[in-house]
Amino acid sequence: MPVILGIESSCDETSVALVADGRVVLANIIATQHDLHAKYGGVVPEIASRAHLERILPVLDEALATAHLRLRDLDAVAVGNRPGLIGSLLVGVSAAKALAWALDRPLVGVDHVQAHLYASCLQEPTTRPDQKTEIIDPRSLFPALGLVVSGGHSSLYHVEAATRMRLLGRTIDDAVGEAYDKAAVILYLGYPGGPKLDKLAQTGDPRTIDLPKSLLDRDSLDFSFSGLKTALLYKVRGFPKGRGPAATFERSGADLTPQEQADYAAAFQDTAIGILMTKLQRALEVMTRQGTPARAILIGGGVSANSLLRRRVAELGQARKLHVGIPKMSYCLDNAAMIAGLAHEDFLHHRFDDLNLPAVATMAQ
Ligand code: KG4
Ligand code: ZN
Repeated sequence: MPVILGIESSCDETSVALVADGRVVLANIIATQHDLHAKYGGVVPEIASRAHLERILPVLDEALATAHLRLRDLDAVAVGNRPGLIGSLLVGVSAAKALAWALDRPLVGVDHVQAHLYASCLQEPTTRPDQKTEIIDPRSLFPALGLVVSGGHSSLYHVEAATRMRLLGRTIDDAVGEAYDKAAVILYLGYPGGPKLDKLAQTGDPRTIDLPKSLLDRDSLDFSFSGLKTALLYKVRGFPKGRGPAATFERSGADLTPQEQADYAAAFQDTAIGILMTKLQRALEVMTRQGTPARAILIGGGVSANSLLRRRVAELGQARKLHVGIPKMSYCLDNAAMIAGLAHEDFLHHRFDDLNLPAVATMAQ
C-alpha cells in the first residue's frame, strides 16, 4: 500500500495529510486561518502566505505523529499546485519540492479542483470489522457529472477520468460560496458565513420571501449568483438612496427579528441550492444527448458541506439510479487528504513532476 504525503496551501488552510492506497486517510491535519482574516471579512493574500510559512512545518510534524510514520516511510510527495492564491501556493509547492528532493521521492503536482471531486472516495481506516465502508473504485464512476462548489468556484464538469475533466459551465460572476458569505454579512451572521447561514436556514420558512432564481439562457450551464445577493440586500435593507459608498439604506440587517433572519436565510438557501440542482439536471441531460450518459454525480468543495445540497443531490441520484459521490464532512473544505488521494492515480501510472513544477494561480483549461 503506497503512502503518499499531500500538501494543500492554495487559500487559507494549511494542511498536510498521509493517505494509503489513494483512499485510506492515515492523517489529515488542517490549520485554518479564519481568525486571522475574520476582521477583514475575507482572505487577505499577504497574511495568508505568511501564515502558511509559519504553520507548514508544525502541521507536517503533527501529520507524521498522528499517522505514526517517519518521513522515510513515504512513497511520494504530492502538492496542490493550481489554482489558488499565488503566494499561498508557493509555500506548499516549495515545501513539497524540498521534501521530495531531500527524501529522493517522486513529486506529484495536483489540480485542486480535480482533487475536490476525488474527495468522496476518501475514507478513514476501519477500526472494527463491522465498520467496513463501501469501497468505491474511482474508475467505475466515469463518465461522471462533477459539481465543484466553494468560495472560489461554481463549476460543472464532464469527468472522463479522475484527472481528465471537461468544463461544462461556470459562474459568470460570484461563486456560490462567496454569495453565501456575502449573504451572511447582509444578515449579520459573521464570517465565514456559509455554515452559519445553512444552520439558521433550517429553522426558517423559505416561502415567506421571494428571491429571483437566475438561470441565464434556457440551455445555459453557467451560473450567476450576484443578482441573488443584491436582491437579498435590497429586501433586507430597502432600496438605497444615493450611489456608491455614499448610498444610504432605510433599514439594516441588525433590525431583523431572529425569525425574520431565519426566514431570509431559508429563502436564500432554497434559491441558491435550487439553482445548483436545476443546472445539475440540465447537465445530466446534456451528457445523455452527447452519447455519454453520466454514471455518477460527484460533488466537492466547501459548499458540498451544505445540508440541503447533500440531501437534494442524494435524492437526485436515487431518482436517476446514479451513484452519488458526496465527501464526508471533513473532506468538503480545503484539505490535503484529497491532494494525496488523487496523486495516487498519477503515482500508479508513473506520471511524476520534476523540481520545475510551477505554482499556477489559474484553473487548467
Ligand atoms: O473549498 P473551500 O474550503 O475553499 C475554497 O476553495 O473556496 O470552501 C469554502 C466556502 C466558503 O465560502 C464557505 O462559506 C462555504 O464554502 N461553506 C458553505 C458551507 N460550509 C462551507 N456554504 C454553504 N453551506 C455550508 N454548510
Ligand atoms: Zn477548495
